Amino acid sequence: MPDIDLSDSVAVTSDIHWVGFYDEEARLHCNPYLLIDGEDVALIDPGSIPHFPTVMRKVIDIVSPEDISTIIISHQDPDVCGNLAVMEDVIGRKDLKIFAHSNTIRLLRHYGIRSTPYAVDKNSYKATLKSGRALEFIFTPYLHSPGAIATYDKKTRSLFSSDIFGAVSKNWSLFAQGDFLKPMDEFHRLYMPSGSILARCMENLSGLEIDRILPQHGSILEGANVQRAIEHLKTLPCGVDIL
Ligand SMILES: [Fe+2]
Ligand SMILES: [Fe+2]
Repeated sequence: MPDIDLSDSVAVTSDIHWVGFYDEEARLHCNPYLLIDGEDVALIDPGSIPHFPTVMRKVIDIVSPEDISTIIISHQDPDVCGNLAVMEDVIGRKDLKIFAHSNTIRLLRHYGIRSTPYAVDKNSYKATLKSGRALEFIFTPYLHSPGAIATYDKKTRSLFSSDIFGAVSKNWSLFAQGDFLKPMDEFHRLYMPSGSILARCMENLSGLEIDRILPQHGSILEGANVQRAIEHLKTLPCGVDIL
C-alpha cells in the first residue's frame, strides 16, 4: 500500500474523507469523517477538544465550515464529540442538524450545545439528504453506550460503525493491513460489555450489504476484511465475560 500523508485529510471514496488527527504517541486514534453530498455536508463523530484544531484544518481544506449541514453523533464520549459545542459555534448555522439517539441527546446537552438535536429513534432511524441520499441509523445498544448508533450510507454501502470494529495499537494504519484482528480484539475486550451483546449486533449487521466499515478508532476495513471482522467478532469474549 502506498504511503498516505496523514497530515492531510484522506479521501476514502470520492465523497467520504477521513479528517482525523494522527498522534504518533497515541495507541488510540480517533477517526472523524466528512461525507459530502451536494448541498449537504455531514461530519461524523467530530472528535475531542484537543483534536479540534487539526480536524477543523482538514475540514477547511475540503469545505467551508458553514457548508456543514449535519453532524452525526454515535454516542456521547468525549473522544467522539467533546468538541461539539465549539464545532457548532464555528459552523454558525441556525439550521445545523445534529443526529443522535435520545439516550445520547440527554447527555449531549451537558457539552453546552445550543441546537436541538434530531432524535433518530423518533424518526424511524432514517434521514434523507436533500439529494435524496438515504442514511440509515442502526441502533447498537450498549456497544458501548445505551444510545450508541452506527450510520449506514446506502449509496456507497459504507458503515460508520463508531466504537464497534475499533482497535487500539501503537502500529496504527488508516486502512487495515496485516493482523488487524488482534488490536481489534484488545479494544473490544476492554470497551464492549459482553460477547453475547456483541454477537447479536454482528448477526444484525450480517444482513447488510457492506463494502467498507469506517470505525471511530482503528483502521478502515474494506472488501473481504468486512465479513472477516464480522464473523470474528461473533465469537469474541469481552467485557463481563473476561472479568
Ligand atoms: Fe466510546
Ligand atoms: Fe471512541
